[in-house]
Amino acid sequence: VEKSEFIQEIVRRNPSCIPERYLRREEDKAKDVDMSALADDIPVLDLTLLSNGNKEELQKLDNACKDWGFFQVTNHGIAAEALQGTKKATGDFFNLPIQEKTKYSFHPEFKQGYGQPFPVAENEILDWSDSLLLLLYPSQNRCPELWPARPPEFRGFVEAYSAGIRKVTEELFGCLSLIMGLEKDTLLGLHEEMMTAMRMNYYPLCCRPDQVMDLTPHTDVGTITVLTQDDDVTGLQIRHNGGWVPVEPLPNSLVVNVGDILEIWSNGKYKSIEHRAVTSEARERISVALFFYPNTEVEIEPLEDILAAQEWRRMYKKVKYGDYLKQATQRRMQGKTHILKF
Ligand code: SIN
Ligand code: FE2
Repeated sequence: VEKSEFIQEIVRRNPSCIPERYLRREEDKAKDVDMSALADDIPVLDLTLLSNGNKEELQKLDNACKDWGFFQVTNHGIAAEALQGTKKATGDFFNLPIQEKTKYSFHPEFKQGYGQPFPVAENEILDWSDSLLLLLYPSQNRCPELWPARPPEFRGFVEAYSAGIRKVTEELFGCLSLIMGLEKDTLLGLHEEMMTAMRMNYYPLCCRPDQVMDLTPHTDVGTITVLTQDDDVTGLQIRHNGGWVPVEPLPNSLVVNVGDILEIWSNGKYKSIEHRAVTSEARERISVALFFYPNTEVEIEPLEDILAAQEWRRMYKKVKYGDYLKQATQRRMQGKTHILKF
């Protein structure tokens, strides 16, 4: 079922309208926020220290991936102008008239563009968000005709921003390999083409935020995700100790999370944590997520060196990444949006 309406347009036409398909069931409403775990417990890591091999910082990274599956990164070397400019260009794109935006409508063959990025089941409740998905690397996956021409600075910012985030990810892959007890270039070697996708999300305000949700709880299907969000508005929440903890963005920092594939490679030592985004009555919100994932031909299974060092059994079967994605899509059609042990 294709999503033909854009929630931003529905809200533009009538701010008090909440179409049936967006109404959450009682049990899925976002009312169980856990205030006992504090947002400022979510680890904050200094990338420069990590890259320099600082033992204490690397230990913090290990704990973050084990206990939280999420962390914020500061001192990452990406200029504030590039971060802020990318967010501004994202907001400017979504604020264009709908006729302009639909020039970049989701292309089912190239699997990118403006609109619903995954197939949704007939009766699935829709997220209170619109998105623009672009495949960035390897560059032969790009569809230049789906890169917005307006605002005029959009393309330049995306180019500079994604190049910066790729460097951050290469550093993180090195650090993660080390703390997993592997050769430093192991994770990079498993991402020969550094497959990268970018999803820009726009979450309109809602007159009844308790009735809807920006983003259904899910885990990310890649290796890691690097996210930039608005500095002064929260919405992202992560699963922790059975509750939901809000991520309070530090200005100019990045939010990084462990995806399903890193969980599998680490045989469950690192956790791909469920997260969601809740809707605001006060403010619209944008975020820009970069997903890093292996090539579809790569066989994913717990890494030998990890199994040898662990005392527990192998928890995941071998699967080609392309097949993993197909299975995840099928699960999604049945309303299951998180990683399974199998
Ligand atoms: C995501 O989970 O892909 C995006 C989260 C967010 O917008 O904060
Ligand atoms: Fe996500």
